[in-house]
Amino acid sequence: MAETKRTATLSFDGKNFELPMLSPTVGPDVIDIRKLYAEADVFTYDPGFTSTASCESTITFIDGDKGELLYRGYPIEQLAENSHFLEVCYLLLNGSLPTAEQMENFEGRITRHTMVHEQMHYFFRGFRRDSHPMATMVGVVGAMSAFYHDSLDINDPWQREVAAMRMIAKLPTIAAMAYKYSIGQPFVYPRNNLDYASNFLHMCFSVPAEDYTVSPVLAKAMDRIMMLHADHEQNASTSTVRLAGSSGANPFACVAAGIACLWGPAHGGANQACLEMLREIGTVDRIPEYIAKAKDKNDPFRLMGFGHRVYKNFDPRAKVMKESADEVLDLLGIHDNETLKVAKELERIALEDEYFVSKKLYPNVDFYSGIILEAMGFPTAMFTPIFALSRTVGWISQWKEMIGDPALKIGRPRQLYIGETARDYVPVVNR
Ligand code: SDX
Repeated sequence: MAETKRTATLSFDGKNFELPMLSPTVGPDVIDIRKLYAEADVFTYDPGFTSTASCESTITFIDGDKGELLYRGYPIEQLAENSHFLEVCYLLLNGSLPTAEQMENFEGRITRHTMVHEQMHYFFRGFRRDSHPMATMVGVVGAMSAFYHDSLDINDPWQREVAAMRMIAKLPTIAAMAYKYSIGQPFVYPRNNLDYASNFLHMCFSVPAEDYTVSPVLAKAMDRIMMLHADHEQNASTSTVRLAGSSGANPFACVAAGIACLWGPAHGGANQACLEMLREIGTVDRIPEYIAKAKDKNDPFRLMGFGHRVYKNFDPRAKVMKESADEVLDLLGIHDNETLKVAKELERIALEDEYFVSKKLYPNVDFYSGIILEAMGFPTAMFTPIFALSRTVGWISQWKEMIGDPALKIGRPRQLYIGETARDYVPVVNR
């Protein structure tokens, strides 16, 4: 629980209001305005929540100025180098790194939950084959609450735990099914003898007609991409999951809401939009034309994969992703990847340009991820589903933290109303 060390005084109309200030373990102090409306009859106004802390949390910390990201205090660079995705899942869910025995038990539980109810196969049949896999995932994940009735009671800690396990275990299966359905290939069942990332690649790329061996290099790169996307404080989709959960909605519906929000090109949809942008630019000599468009106030075009609400320095995930892109393409024998060349030159030019420097716009997590995923064989439409399956552990960890808080209240913001005041109805004959 954060502590109060000092107060802030708000003065207006000759009145003073003392507001307690809460101090975090690290990061900016906050002004506690929970009693402001009751005491001062005013709201605060912060569309986009640029200056608003929505909750207390112990899960993830971001220092945007330093370009620092910590999962339960561990720097993302160290986790990307030394850990693996399921260990990061345990860390985010439970707050500490697991012992060998705890890890074995956790991995065993996840592995035994990777299949989905057989009836769900028919659910996919209702979608057009050319549906975007994110549309399928929103629908199928939301429908999980129709299949797993024994993990819907959010007031039962054991059912919360089971729902979390099921989502972490089944999202890769559902994402792979969405992909297979979109290309007209049969669904591939998970295999319990494969690790998490290898299982996902197996379900996406193997076919019944022949044996398929997962490349350890690609599995390691996939696992690292999952770790880098696992959680990110109170971003738009996590805030969506929290807000949905605050009403008491079941966890499957909350994660489906998070998937819907992540889909937007300003958020998780940026990885697809970024690769499509890099393809549209095509060659290095066309970069200046797009830099000019990005700087033009009258042009809605933005450099996708660039800029961030919190990072005003390099996104540490983008740095790791950039190294991984070099490594994966090299190991795949892809040496003259034009898209990577354009990405690197675009980054170099942008980071020397006054517009981007002054606005502190740097590459974010979505700038290089698509290059790796494309090299692995994924179509651009699968980039955001992979972000979603990776972020599921973050969403469900934040949801669990919120639901377990005895002080939980339903989220219900107010507004700055600038519409009509009360007026009488006018019959159509008099209009
Ligand atoms: C993710 O929140 C998270 O943590 C998200 C995420 C996570 O892990 O959950 O990190 C994942 O969503 C990463 C971001 C992916 N989105 C993109 O790459 C889309 C392109 N980026 C932008 O749309 C934008 O940078 C945002 C949405 C990411 C952030 O927008 P903000 O914080 O609301 O900033 P802003 O729009 O107010 O921009 C500030 C200024 C503006 O210029 P001025 O009005 O001050 O003159 O910077 C400009 C913007 O026009 N700007 C850009 C730009 N991003 C911001 N100009 C050109 N290209 C860009 N990409």
